[in-house]
Amino acid sequence: MELAELLITRRSTRRFDPSRDVPDDVLDRVLAAPLAMPHAGNTYDWRGVVLRRSQRDGQRWPAVFDALMRQSYVEEAAVLIAWAVQPGWWADRYRENVGELVRRELIEPERAGDLLSVIEAGPDARHLTVGLVGEAMMGVCAAMLTAIDAGLGATVTACKPKDLATALEIPGEAVVCQWGVLALGWPAGDVPAPDATAPKPAVYDQYFDGVWGEPLRGNVGG
Ligand SMILES: Cc1cc2nc3c(=O)[nH]c(=O)nc-3n(C[C@H](O)[C@H](O)[C@H](O)COP(=O)(O)O)c2cc1C
Repeated sequence: MELAELLITRRSTRRFDPSRDVPDDVLDRVLAAPLAMPHAGNTYDWRGVVLRRSQRDGQRWPAVFDALMRQSYVEEAAVLIAWAVQPGWWADRYRENVGELVRRELIEPERAGDLLSVIEAGPDARHLTVGLVGEAMMGVCAAMLTAIDAGLGATVTACKPKDLATALEIPGEAVVCQWGVLALGWPAGDVPAPDATAPKPAVYDQYFDGVWGEPLRGNVGG
């Protein structure tokens, strides 16, 4: 599918066909997509836990489902992927990787110092976690679009991070992305048509022109 068409027609799927699995080659493409996205310092500190419905662990599942707020489409989804980031791990490698990017002339040496200042506050600094979660979400987005391009339905899903961490044995130094769970599967036959779902804001209501508060006028539509 053309990217523009994919973006315009994409909608969240909240009814999956629970009897159909995702083929391995499609899942491979979905899992590879986040690595095609940019990542600060080229570190890719995020990790994802992949849960396949066909291999569901009956002991673990109730706690996972509770942490995903018992949403019915989550129960139906053939695959769930839960993302977490590792700020300490990232900070350790960022310095090294920025050095490598300088050596490869992808970053000018005089810019490296400013870039490294983001880790001065230590790996527990809030801005680091917020930044890394944001970066991980770019990967979630790439995985979502790749899945939809393959004909699957996909929905970005919220979780209770602490409960999900406990259920999936995610260690304390990792931070579960609060909204970083992707539910995938074949849409159920009775999914409403895209135009029957969420209305979108007008494009130019979302932007300001040069400074906060100044309306932006344009011709993109919406
Ligand atoms: C970060 C994020 C978290 C979301 N969490 C949920 C969720 O837990 N449950 C749900 O039904 N939809 C969830 N959604 C889907 C949004 O409700 C949906 O994207 C929005 O209503 C727009 O509809 P559309 O995706 O069909 O265009 C989430 C979307 C995002 C981006």
